[in-house]
Amino acid sequence: MTTRPLRSFLFVPGDSEKKLGKIDGSPADAIILDLEDSVSPSRKTAARRLVADYLRDAVDTAGLPQLWVRINPLDSGEALADLAAVVAAGPAGIMIPKIDGPDQVQQVSHYLDAFEAAHGLSAGQIRLLPVATETASAPFRLGDFAGAGIDRLYGLTWGAEDLSAALGASTNLGPDGDWAVTYRLVRSLMLMGARAAGVEAVETLYVDIRDPDGLAESSRRARGEGFSGRIAIHPAQVEPINDAFTPTEAEIEFARRVVAAFDGEVGTVALDGKMLDLPHLKQAQRVLALVD
Ligand code: COA
Ligand code: MG
Repeated sequence: MTTRPLRSFLFVPGDSEKKLGKIDGSPADAIILDLEDSVSPSRKTAARRLVADYLRDAVDTAGLPQLWVRINPLDSGEALADLAAVVAAGPAGIMIPKIDGPDQVQQVSHYLDAFEAAHGLSAGQIRLLPVATETASAPFRLGDFAGAGIDRLYGLTWGAEDLSAALGASTNLGPDGDWAVTYRLVRSLMLMGARAAGVEAVETLYVDIRDPDGLAESSRRARGEGFSGRIAIHPAQVEPINDAFTPTEAEIEFARRVVAAFDGEVGTVALDGKMLDLPHLKQAQRVLALVD
C-alpha cells in the first residue's frame, strides 16, 4: 500500500489480449483491468479468465503499476463471479461502477473480507474505488462516505457518461464545451465527499485521446482543485496525467519558502507581499509530502 496518492489509472479492456500485452512496463501508477463496459456480454467469461491469468503472471504485484480490476455492478448478477475469478490472484484494488451509495461499497467490502480470508490474503489489503456518480440517486449519497466506516476505501471517482444515460440526457456538455452544470455539480460533490471521508479524489477520464495539451491543462486544473489523480483510457494519456499530478519545481520551491516562513510558531506571515496563514502552510506541507 503506497501512502503517496496514485496519479494515473490506465483502463485496459479485460478481454483484449492485444491491449493487455501492451501494458507491461507502463509508467501508469495503476492499471484498471476492465470487466465491465469495455467488455461485451458475450466476452465476460473470457475476460475474467484473461484478467485472472494476467494478475497471476504479474511479476511484482507489490510495486507499480498497481493492478486493479473494475468489476460489473452489484445488480448485474456478474459481480460475485468477477470477484471469485480475480481475488485469489491478489489485485491491489477493485473499482465498483454504478453504485447507489456507500452501503453497496460496504457490501463489496464484506465480500472481500470473506475472499481475503478464503485465499490467505491480509484482511483489508484489497482497496476500493467506487465510481460514485453513475446513477441518478448516487449524487445524493456522496456525503455519506464520511462516517460509513469503509476502511479499505481508497478514494472516490466520478463519471459523466453513465450518469447522462441514467438522466435521459442527450449531452453532458454545456454551450462552452465544458461539463454542463449537472456534471460540474456532481464532480464538486464527489470531491468534497471524498475529502470529507478522508480519501483520495480521482478525476474522471478525458475523452479526446488525441489532445495531450487539453488533457494536461484540464488535469492541472483538477489538481489545483484538490483531485489527486486521474483515469486514463489510452497509454498516451498516462505521462501527461503523471506530470500534471506531480508538483512543479516552482511549486516545490514556493512550498519550501512557505514552510520556512512559518518557522517559529507564528500563525500568519507575509511572503512576497501577500498574507499567508495556516491553510497556506497546510497546502505547502501537502505539496512537500508528495515529493519527499
Ligand atoms: N491499453 C493498452 N493498450 C492500448 C490501449 C489501452 N487502454 N488503448 C490503445 N492501446 C493500444 C492499441 O491497441 C494500439 O496498439 P497497436 O499500435 O499495436 O495497434 C496502440 O495502443 C495505439 O492505439 P490507438 O490506435 O491510438 O487507439 P485505438 O483506436 O486502438 O483504441 C480506444 C482507442 C479508446 C478504443 C482504446 O484506447 C481503449 O480501448 N481504451 C480503453 C477503453 C476502456 O477501457 N474503457 C472503459 C473505461 S471508460
Ligand atoms: Mg461506464
